[in-house]
Amino acid sequence: MKNKTICVVGLGYIGLPTAALLASNGYQVAGVDVSAPAVETINRGLIHIVEPDLDEYVRSAVAAGRLKAYTSPQAGDVYIICVPTPFHEGNTIPEPNIDFVLVATKSIANQVKAGDMVILESTSPVGTTQRMAEVLNEAGVDLSSIYIAYCPERVLPGKIMTELVENDRVVGGLTPEATQQVSSFYRTFVKGTVLETNAKTAEMCKLTENSFRDVNIAFANELSLVCAKDDINVWDLISLANRHPRVNILQPGAGVGGHCIAVDPWFIVARDPENAQLIRTAREVNNRKTEWVINQIKTAAADISAKTGLQAKIACLGLAFKPDIDDLRESPAAHIAEALLSQGYDLVAVEPNIQNDNRFTLIDLDEALKSADVLAVLVKHREFMDAAKSGQFIRAGIIDFCGLSA
Ligand SMILES: NC(=O)c1ccc[n+]([C@@H]2O[C@H](COP(=O)([O-])OP(=O)(O)OC[C@H]3O[C@@H](n4cnc5c(N)ncnc54)[C@H](O)[C@@H]3O)[C@@H](O)[C@H]2O)c1
Repeated sequence: MKNKTICVVGLGYIGLPTAALLASNGYQVAGVDVSAPAVETINRGLIHIVEPDLDEYVRSAVAAGRLKAYTSPQAGDVYIICVPTPFHEGNTIPEPNIDFVLVATKSIANQVKAGDMVILESTSPVGTTQRMAEVLNEAGVDLSSIYIAYCPERVLPGKIMTELVENDRVVGGLTPEATQQVSSFYRTFVKGTVLETNAKTAEMCKLTENSFRDVNIAFANELSLVCAKDDINVWDLISLANRHPRVNILQPGAGVGGHCIAVDPWFIVARDPENAQLIRTAREVNNRKTEWVINQIKTAAADISAKTGLQAKIACLGLAFKPDIDDLRESPAAHIAEALLSQGYDLVAVEPNIQNDNRFTLIDLDEALKSADVLAVLVKHREFMDAAKSGQFIRAGIIDFCGLSA
């Protein structure tokens, strides 16, 4: 198997670590990306994304001549597609956009030969792997001679290089032979169990994992709203309820963000709006929680202004979509800060994980604690938990939306 050459299409957070890992396992890897600066950076042995340990993997793979990046697809025996799968904005039910997958598939079609494997790793709506096969077929590829499969990625950013190897993987081929061939390929570099199924089940499996998280967080967020009405501390409540042997409630927060959990459930809802009622409601509950937080902050600011006759100064503590990362994509905290700024509020932000951002005035925590009238804790960053533990948050104006002491 290791004499096969690999072509990885899309060298972002998933594709580049995968390409570098395969190279470190002895494969000859061609990485392809439409971004010329990314390709140039990689060929200098450097990386254009932030991920622990990835730099060393890429440096040594490029130095050993096992990884080379290109702006156009290269011939290989195994093709792995890791391109973005966003949704079309603006619809009541956002529709998945699989154009990047279809374009990437078309781009490799004239290279694919008998015996090759074509694997999709992008998070995709059910039926996308079949659509890929149709694109290849229309381009003249004999589908009976190749192996097409879906294998979703389930890594955690920040731990990608470990989880790529350790996590269990699900492989679903369009045929049993494709499932078996592609599973054998993954077993050459994955230590976790490689589980075999069909393409549609594998596609749905990835969407199910992220929807499960979204629905369960929605339950916690809904509880937080109900509890607020009765002045019940929701974090105390949840920790008490979780002492029941069969109850395990997740934590509420300022909403749900990131480019996976806040996006992928829509792929299920768009496919079957009639039946996916709970999944849709969960998405809406989590989005509504973010709007509720905005209103809470506005009410607190209005109370201060009524007392002082001056505009209240608001500090948003945290902008990232989850604790201890620098990623603001689909972040409820960043959305809250932007919404308040656009409504003319005097707002600063404290985000220990980023140096600067052209949308927000960033200040440090000590300064915010001294100068802000309303401090909205939006993300449970380590720095804020430490400050809370050392008693720095015992002052008026603090609204804790993520349970710092929970
Ligand atoms: N990042 C994660 O943590 C994560 C985890 C699990 C699954 N996923 C899924 O993996 C997929 C890729 O995500 P990502 O985070 O790596 O995205 P990304 O945006 O970091 O990288 C995608 C890359 O694909 C390139 N690209 C786009 N079209 C191309 C084409 N036709 N040919 C070659 N390159 C092309 C882009 O330039 C970009 O560099 C998505 O479906 C995502 O939902 C991501």
